[in-house]
Parts: sequence; C-alpha cells; structure tokens
Amino acid sequence: MAQIILVRGDITEQHADAIVNAANSSLLGGGGVDGAVHRRGGPEILTECRALRASRYGKGLPTGQAVATTAGRLDAAHVIHTVGPVHSTSEDRSELLASCYRESLRVAAELGARTVAFPAISTGIYGWPIDDGARIAIATVRECAAEPVTEVRFVLFDEAAYAAFEAAL
Ligand code: AR6
Repeated sequence: MAQIILVRGDITEQHADAIVNAANSSLLGGGGVDGAVHRRGGPEILTECRALRASRYGKGLPTGQAVATTAGRLDAAHVIHTVGPVHSTSEDRSELLASCYRESLRVAAELGARTVAFPAISTGIYGWPIDDGARIAIATVRECAAEPVTEVRFVLFDEAAYAAFEAAL
C-alpha cells in the first residue's frame, strides 16, 4: 500500500518520478496545470505530445486515459498526461474521473515510478466540485496504488482544495 501525502503548492515545482498533468484530449496544452506544465517543462514535452498525436492518438487522448512523455525541464523523469471529464449535472461521470487516477497509476507503475504527484484532476477549468473530486481521488488511489509506486502526493493549489483532500483522507 502506497503512502498518500497532501501538500499545498504548485505541482510544477515538485520533485517526483512522475508528475501527472490535467490535460485535454488534444495533448497540445491549455490553461491551469496544463499551461504550467508546458511553460515550466519547456518545448520538449510538446514535441513528444505532437508525436503521440501523429501516431497513437490521431483523434486525441480519450477522457479517462493516460499517456506518458518526458518531463523536459521539470524535476521529474516523466509527465503522465490524463484527460479528466468535464463535470456534468445531468450525467454521472465519476467513473471517468476515477479512471484518470487508475490509468495514471497504471502508466506510472509501467514506467517503474516510485513517487507520483497528482493535481486535483477536473476540479479547475472542468468544473468538478472539489469535495467530490477529492473523495474520488482518495478512494481510487487507495484502491489502485501498487508496487512499485510507494508514494502518491496530491499537490493542492489552494487552501480549499487542501481542506477537501484532508477531509477525504
Ligand atoms: N499546481 C497545482 N494545482 C494547480 C495548478 C498548479 N500549478 N494550477 C491549477 N491547479 P485545471 P482541469 C489546480 O484547470 O479542471 C486546461 O486548460 C486547480 O486549482 O488545471 O482538469 C487543460 O488543457 C484545480 O484544483 O484542470 C484542460 O483543457 C486543479 O488544479 C482543462 O484545463 C485542476 O485544475 C482541464 O481542466
């Protein structure tokens, strides 16, 4: 069972074997975590993302899936890009959000990552309520984190997100 750690801060300043990016299907960048990852990580990450679009993911990375690239100038060996669901009040998309954590952990394990840093996927631009997003994140990581991953670190940008994850934990 991996240790779950909560910290407040900017995920792009973390040292970890793998840093998870809250990306979109295009894999070509955006705002929030995605913008910060590409800004701080440098152009190498985007070059690999473009190559993924030209090969495996011509139609884009589907929601709930995850794929790894280099981490460029970030203090990590890999960035794992995953696409969270946009929150909906008319449809329960919880399984897709859980899938982001599960698939990211699966990719991390394949890469031999021991430490993995996650943001609170979908809880920014994609509008997922933070309390529910935290509950799904913690429950899924508890269930799915396995060797060789020994530490899962949630990097929360503000006090409200930190408090939600603390309550869920
Ligand atoms: N470090 C840690 N957490 C952060 C950071 C940061 N540097 N920046 C924002 N957060 P978001 P999403 C928090 O919007 O909701 C992009 O345009 C933020 O407060 O980054 O999955 C993509 O390209 C929130 O709690 O991701 C997609 O189009 C959480 O991280 C779309 O946004 C996630 O916010 C994805 O939206």
